[in-house]
Amino acid sequence: MRILGIETSCDETAAAVVEDGTKVLSNVIASSVDLHAQTGGVVPEVAAREHLRQISPVVDKALSDAKVGWDDIDAIAVTHAPGLLTSLLVGVNTAQTLAYIYNKPLILTHHVAGHIYANFLERQTTNDQFPILILTISGGHNELVLMKSHHDFEVIGETLDDAAGEAFDKIARLLDLGFPGGPIISKRAELGDSTAFDFPRPMLDKDNKYNFSFSGLKSAVKREVDRLKTIDERQINNLCASFQSAVIDVLADKLTMAADEFNVKSVHLAGGVSANQLLRKTVRERLSSNIELLWPEEMIYCTDNAAMIASAAFFNPKKEFNAKSVEVSSQLDLS
Ligand code: KG4
Ligand code: ZN
Repeated sequence: MRILGIETSCDETAAAVVEDGTKVLSNVIASSVDLHAQTGGVVPEVAAREHLRQISPVVDKALSDAKVGWDDIDAIAVTHAPGLLTSLLVGVNTAQTLAYIYNKPLILTHHVAGHIYANFLERQTTNDQFPILILTISGGHNELVLMKSHHDFEVIGETLDDAAGEAFDKIARLLDLGFPGGPIISKRAELGDSTAFDFPRPMLDKDNKYNFSFSGLKSAVKREVDRLKTIDERQINNLCASFQSAVIDVLADKLTMAADEFNVKSVHLAGGVSANQLLRKTVRERLSSNIELLWPEEMIYCTDNAAMIASAAFFNPKKEFNAKSVEVSSQLDLS
């Protein structure tokens, strides 16, 4: 089965053709990140306009890169939640129209389910890898998800304030380093000393054992920046390294604690922050050696893309076919 995936929930206009949920025939992404870098964050109206400009050429290219025509497409999958409403509307409206014109089933897909299925792309999947524990970490989401079978998602923890990626972005803005913050901070951190500043590792009380909170850490970095007044390059590198190590400690400790408690067979990292090399290394070191650890096969599958949306749709046993009247939502629970 070949599914055309469409993703426009934030600042990436993406379309992809995926066969049987795993084989990526094409994966086209037009990012408006350069425009948002000028404002230090995504301006919804600017993102929506860019989606409108890009969506048709991106869909055309996804088909031509995959060397398929409309007759070869069995269904269209689109992200309908959560995300920026005006951005989601462009993708959903396009998908709905294409489904109507070409008489294809339309499968509405949750963006975080998409990030979770990024770990199924370009891989053999077997049912004996369940239960899987997934840490979804991106600019908008930060969840610990227990998955006992396909699309059976139990959210066992989430952030009470900022998502991990959002914390990276906000600290980068505070230090005037650019957007998105994650890749920049992790590069600067390589040059810095992670013990230079003793930032808090918010582990929270037992009722919030698997929840996250990064706003206190953000305030601690800000206090330090205010105290320093003038900051040289070396101090910036040290701030980045110390901040990154605090975030990673919290993510890795909670993840390994939950992996043991729920006796999982595999742990998956998903979402933009899963591109972070130190996070991958730290989790591997702390996780029991008998637990498989995966992150997306390609860097491009960590951040927003449409191949993951097509994959999530393929594995969804409750595929919502022929939706004539569809809704978008800025917030929608995964489970
Ligand atoms: O999944 P994604 O592309 O979009 C959302 O759904 O939000 O994630 C983007 C986030 C940004 O906050 C960015 O700063 C972060 O992922 N990110 C990273 C790295 N690469 C991207 N964070 C830490 N380290 C990285 N190497
Ligand atoms: Zn995302």
